[in-house]
Order: sequence, then C-alpha cells, then structure tokens
Amino acid sequence: MTDLQTIDKEDQAARIKDLRKQIDYHNHRYYALDQPEISDAEYDKIFRELVDLENTHPELITADSPTQRVGFAPIEKFLPFGHEVPLLSLENAMNTEEALDFDRRVHKLLGVGGNIEYVAELKMDGLAVELVYEDGALIGAGTRGDGFTGEDVSQNVKTIRSVPWRLLGPPSQRALPVKLAVRGEVFIEKRDFDKLNDQRAERGEPVFANPRNAAAGSLRQLDPSITAGRPLRAFFYGIGTLISEKEFVTQLEMLDQLKRWGLPVNPESRLCHGIEQALSYYEKLAEEREYLPYEIDGVVIKVNNLACQRQLGEKSRSPRWAIALKFSPDEAQTHVLDIGVNVGRTGILTPVAFLNPVVVGGVTVKRATLHNIDEIQRKDIRKGDAVLVHRAGEVIPEVIEVIKSKRTENEEPFKMPPNCPSCGAPVVRLPDEAFHRCVNRNCPAQIKGSIVHFASRDAMNINGLGEQIVSRFIDEGIIGTVSDLYRLRMEDLQNLPGFGQKSARNLLDTINTSKQTTLSRFLYSLGISHVGAFIADLLARSFGDIDKVRSARVEQLLQVQGIGEKVANALAAYFSNPDNRRLVDELLDIGFVIDNPPPTRPVETGFWSGKTVVFTGALSSMTRQEAGEAVTAKGARVTDSVSKKTGVVVAGADPGSKLAKAQKLGVRIMQEDEFIGMLNGHSLATEA
Ligand code: IVH
Repeated sequence: MTDLQTIDKEDQAARIKDLRKQIDYHNHRYYALDQPEISDAEYDKIFRELVDLENTHPELITADSPTQRVGFAPIEKFLPFGHEVPLLSLENAMNTEEALDFDRRVHKLLGVGGNIEYVAELKMDGLAVELVYEDGALIGAGTRGDGFTGEDVSQNVKTIRSVPWRLLGPPSQRALPVKLAVRGEVFIEKRDFDKLNDQRAERGEPVFANPRNAAAGSLRQLDPSITAGRPLRAFFYGIGTLISEKEFVTQLEMLDQLKRWGLPVNPESRLCHGIEQALSYYEKLAEEREYLPYEIDGVVIKVNNLACQRQLGEKSRSPRWAIALKFSPDEAQTHVLDIGVNVGRTGILTPVAFLNPVVVGGVTVKRATLHNIDEIQRKDIRKGDAVLVHRAGEVIPEVIEVIKSKRTENEEPFKMPPNCPSCGAPVVRLPDEAFHRCVNRNCPAQIKGSIVHFASRDAMNINGLGEQIVSRFIDEGIIGTVSDLYRLRMEDLQNLPGFGQKSARNLLDTINTSKQTTLSRFLYSLGISHVGAFIADLLARSFGDIDKVRSARVEQLLQVQGIGEKVANALAAYFSNPDNRRLVDELLDIGFVIDNPPPTRPVETGFWSGKTVVFTGALSSMTRQEAGEAVTAKGARVTDSVSKKTGVVVAGADPGSKLAKAQKLGVRIMQEDEFIGMLNGHSLATEA
C-alpha cells in the first residue's frame, strides 16, 4: 500500500467516525428531543455517505455503526430474557371515583393529610420492553412476558432509531450508570400506522387492526431486518435495576435523567399537586387525545416521591404507588336489535342500526349509521348480529364489524324497503349512485330535514330550532315549509306543551332576526344538492346578487373557478323547479334583507384558492379582519377552529391553543412574514 493510499484511508476512517457521530447526534435530536436540526434529505445524504464509505472499507465497519441498525441475521426462535426486578403491571381505575379511592388509600398508607404530589404520565398504547445498559452500552432488550421472563428481542430493539446504543454522558463516564435496566413502551404513531397499512394493502398483505398490534407484530419478528423497516418508536418511563452513583428523589427527576442519558421520554408528563389536578389533566387529555400523534389508553398517576413509592411498596402484580386511569374505550360490543332507514333532507335513505344501548367513548350509543346498502353487504351486517361499534369524538357511531363467531343463523339480512318509510312513495337507486332515494319532493321526512338544515348554524342560525322542535311543529301542522317559520305567531306556540311565554318569545325573535342575512348563508340554507357553505360563498362572491344566481345558466355557472358540472347542473335544476322558485320569492316577500357582498374579481387559482385558513394571535401589519378579507379575496375560506382539513394556520404574536393543535395535526403553519409574502404572491420559504 502506498503512503498516499494510507493517508487516504486514514482520512476516510476519520470521516466515517465523524459521520457516525453526526448520525447518532441527529437521531437523538429527531427521536428523543423531537427537535430535528436538519432536513430528512440532509440526514439521508450523510447516512448514504456513511454506507458508501463502509462499502468501500468493509473492514472499518463496527458493530455500533448506525448502519448496522438495518438488519441482523434472522434467528430461529426467541431466547428467554429474565427481568432482575419483575416488570409489574398496573391496577386500572375505570372512572374518576376509583382514582379518588386510590388517592384515599395512598393517604391512609402513608399516614399523611393534604395534597399528595403525583406525576401524571400518558399511558402509551404499545407494548412494554426493558432495555439493559452496562457502562452506558446497550447490551440487551426483552419484552415483558409474564413479568419475570420475557423474550429476548435485543436485535430487533437495536433497529429502533430512537433507542440509543450508548447512553449520553460526560466523557468521564462516571456519570453513566454501571448498570441500568430501563422500562418503556414501544409504539407506532398513527400516521406511520396508516402508511404501513396502505403499503401492506397495496402488496396484498393483511393489514394490522390497530397501531398496538402493528407495534407488537413488528417487534416480535424473528428476522430483525423486517423490524428495521417498521416505523417503531419508544418512550421510557421507569427503572428496574440501577447501579449508579446517581440517585433521584422524585419520579420527575428520574424521567429528567433518562432524558439526559439520551433516552426518549414523553414530554407530556405533568406534576400534579393533589389528585384533583391529576383528574383535570385526565379530562383534558380525554378530549385532546384524538389530536396526539400516537394512541394512548389512559393516564398513569404515580406518586412523585420515590421514598413514598418504596414505603407504599407492591402487591403481587402491581405497585400500590401507581394507578392507570383508563379512558372509556371507543369501541364496544353490542347487538343489532333492528335495522331501519332514515330519510334525509335530500331524500337519501340511510340505513341505521338500532343497537342494544352500550357505552362507547363515555356516552350511551343506541344507533349507528350503516351508510348505504353496499356497506351493509360488504360487512354482511344482519338484524340480530353481535357487532363491534366504534365512536370517536364528534363522529357518528359506526358498526366496524360483525362478530361472526356469535352468529346463530337466526339473523336476518337487510333489504332496502321498496317504499319510503316516511311517505310511502317509491324508492329508487340511480345508476351511478351508491344511495337509494325517495322520489317524493313533498315527503314529510325531507321537509323536516330541509327545515332543520335551514335553521342550522351555518345557515339561518336559528338557535333553539332543532330536530325535535321542528318535528313537533310539523306534527302539529303549524309549519309545512321554511317560509311558514316566518308566519308563526305567539298563539301558535303558546298552546304547545313545554313552551312558556318566554321561550316562545325568544324563538320568534330569533326567527325574525334571521331575516337579516348574507347571500352566502341564504344560498347555503336552501339545501341545494352539492352546495355546501364553501360553494355558497363562492357563488355569493362571484354573482353578488340572488337574482343573478337564480337566473344564471349552466355555462355562466361553469365560468366560476371552483364550480364544476355537478354543482352547476344541481343549481340550474334547483332554480328551474317552480316550487323552489316560489319558495325563494316567498322568503324575499317576507322581508329577507340579503347583504350582497361587493362582487370580487374572479376567484384566483393561486396558493390560497380553496384553502381553509385559521388565524391565531395578533398580526402586527394588519388586523385579523383585514387579513381574513385579503385571503378570502384570493379564494380562501376563513374558519375559527383547526381540524385536519385546515390548509394553513397563520400564527401572530401570542398564538392560542390553535397553534398547538395545528402542530399536532401537522397543519402548515405560517408566521406573519411568510404570510405577508404569500399574500403578495411569493413564497419567502423558497427565496430563503
Ligand atoms: S408504569 C410498575 N407508566 O402499561 C409499573 N406503564 O400494565 C409499571 N404503560 O404494558 C408500569 N405507559 O408498559 C407505566 N407511563 C407509563 C406507561 C405504562 C404505558 C404500560 C406498560 C404496561 C402496562 C402496565
């Protein structure tokens, strides 16, 4: 070997070392701290450089190189992995009352009064693991198993990028423990889970039922290179064995030390003074958990002081110093008592399952939507079936699947009725539609649905006029169309049981004030097929006048950017029907005052077109109102709350919780500078 080659090799060895250090550092920033410093592309670049260099010099590959995370040789079976200190499980509290019992027990056993200091941690819904580090190096990892002996999944755990192979610490190494057995949970984030399942479905492989199953299935692979390809993550929350100069006084200090050793620790843990604070945190999480990037199934409440933990000790399978306060599950089993159909305002018949009442996600569910006939046939849902029901957040409860093993063969398949259950008119299914419809335009169920829609929040916003009251008014024969609402008088309402003088007056006042409205609300409230709030707004801004909208021909409607054939045809059909024309005339005669927005120039197709925008915090260069008008003029829609459908959140000074929600949902966030840049039609981000 020439001198030159030697020097070259030395350089390359140094570069390899440097790259490994960089990669370890960025892994830690990304997974443990959640604060990446470089883009994914930059990361991939240095990773590839390392792989290339190692390929050129295989003799320089070391077992601890980050490239070695991607695959070890498959094994034949898992070896047992013993836990020096048994990995206990947690006692569950199914409601706040049981958590209060826990607090009373802790007080009694410790013999103290006042508030106990607790740490509330998220209960990650994955699978438990224990990792063993000796002198800072990861030497093994095992699953929980029966708590005493699990399976040795060391090679698989080493493929998880958020798991450090070496603990971080000052070079003296005295700061690193001689031995550390650390416990935590391996899981998969919801988005990664969806992606993984999409991939599997594409390849024709069976999909995982939920992220927990996916995480467990991925960790328990005999071939570690399969595990390496799965998006596993981990959070650590406790210690089994510790031989170290380090000592901690509290659970929080311990979590903090784990973090400093480079282990990923969930940042959502909270110190709580007293059980009440822990319970408030639980309530908050019950509402917000759908926005977390991963699934949790409860909150673990732990006594913060470690000396108190020791004093409280353990029962045979669970510690006395902690309790898992579970969320009510958002799935439950029940029976389909019957299957009926609901007729909506557009005449669509939606099959509905009437269920044996069951508590799901904290509320009693009696019915679930079955969407349409194809869905029922696909899931083969029959009257009498045992089913799994799901309910999340505000979403309408759904039947997920039939529990076929419980079939008795007395179940009855469902057939769409040939006649509308509300009016008896024939039911049809148009060739390219998934739905069945009632053909009678005067069907009482359709009338009821259209009046409820007319009164709803984004339409005429008539507070107090919900489904039940509308049904009653129709049954009493005091209304038959929306225009009848404006003819209601005190005498009509006063005689109705349950209506006092005051509530009747309030309702009439609200109905009366709704006559002062905007063109977009007015159009939306008519309930024209395919005309939602967004399209109504588009029409209002493009035509600026109800007469222009109702006399527009299909070709004119199609001129509007954002309006396609479906909407244009639906509008033309609606306004060519004499009943509908009469209704609009009647409303105008009644004294509707429709605020016509100044017609704007045609809606642009630029960045803002069709995007939903939310503002939070104060802007320094304009008011929120002005900013809202500016983006609306460019085709965006401004809303108040952040959801998955939000396109952009503009964050000014002192942003509120909307910003956090946007971050959690991965919605694009713009600071004021970037926002102004985008308003003026250029992107600062790409200029920088
Ligand atoms: S502490 C000795 N804290 O819940 C107490 N467990 O039955 C050990 N889990 O599968 C458990 N998040 O892995 C604790 N923040 C957390 C947790 C947590 C999830 C899991 C644990 C085990 C189960 C306990």
